[in-house]
Amino acid sequence: MNHPLPTGNFSCFVTGTDTEIGKTLVSAALLYILVQRGVQVAAMKPVAAGAEWRNGAWHNDDADMLAHSANVPLPPTLTTPYLLRTPAAPHIAAAIDKVVIDPAHIQQCFNHVRTQCEAVIVEGVGGFRVPLTDHFDTADLAQQLALPVILVAGLRLGCISQALLTVEAIQVRGLQLMGWVANTVDPHMGHVAANLQALAQRIPAPLLGHIPRLLEPSASVAASFIGTQDHTASNDA
Ligand SMILES: Nc1ncnc2c1ncn2[C@@H]1O[C@H](COP(=O)(O)OP(=O)(O)OP(=O)(O)O)[C@@H](O)[C@H]1O
Ligand SMILES: [Mg+2]
Repeated sequence: MNHPLPTGNFSCFVTGTDTEIGKTLVSAALLYILVQRGVQVAAMKPVAAGAEWRNGAWHNDDADMLAHSANVPLPPTLTTPYLLRTPAAPHIAAAIDKVVIDPAHIQQCFNHVRTQCEAVIVEGVGGFRVPLTDHFDTADLAQQLALPVILVAGLRLGCISQALLTVEAIQVRGLQLMGWVANTVDPHMGHVAANLQALAQRIPAPLLGHIPRLLEPSASVAASFIGTQDHTASNDA
């Protein structure tokens, strides 16, 4: 049984147990829920690595999906101040692109975004300790933005330790863990219920949802498995 999301508007930093485990999908789902509630909500992916040139501009899939799911349109330079072209770990991509990631600039963009909306959903990069510079990582960014954190735990072998280490890293920084979402990244994972139970017993925050493997992952379908939304989705594979 899912715990409810906070009522009304809320902002959060979405992190995950790893890269490619559903942070963007969950962020988009949270945006969908807030938009349904009539909240003016913006999205940020402050650092994105991997961009394609399309229709006269550089595009990153995560930044595009988040922008598409939000209802406060803002310039991409504000919502993704560091759109790195190279698809690699951010500090490596930044070095290749000859870009210096400045945490103060991200903060300025975030502060500006905050003045334009009632809530903001910020997607992190990769796992929680992914470096952004030689001296600053994604965890530092969450701490700097002082947002409550939602952890996406990608359900696959090894996820229990990854999730618990991430929870420890969140706690040690004094950040609020608003909740966690289990996401079925490995459709062939065995003992899902036992893994979920092991996680729920050990994570001192509410389980906000369990997203099954979806045939057509979308913000609205993922949202139906988060909080106490209606479970109307029918394309659970
Ligand atoms: N429950 C699911 N069912 C089906 N496909 C999923 C599910 N969750 C995520 N996916 C797909 O897996 C891929 C990775 O998901 P997503 O982009 O949300 O991960 P991420 O953690 O944001 O990755 P990154 O570290 O690159 O930002 C996407 O193609 C997404 O549509
Ligand atoms: Mg993503």
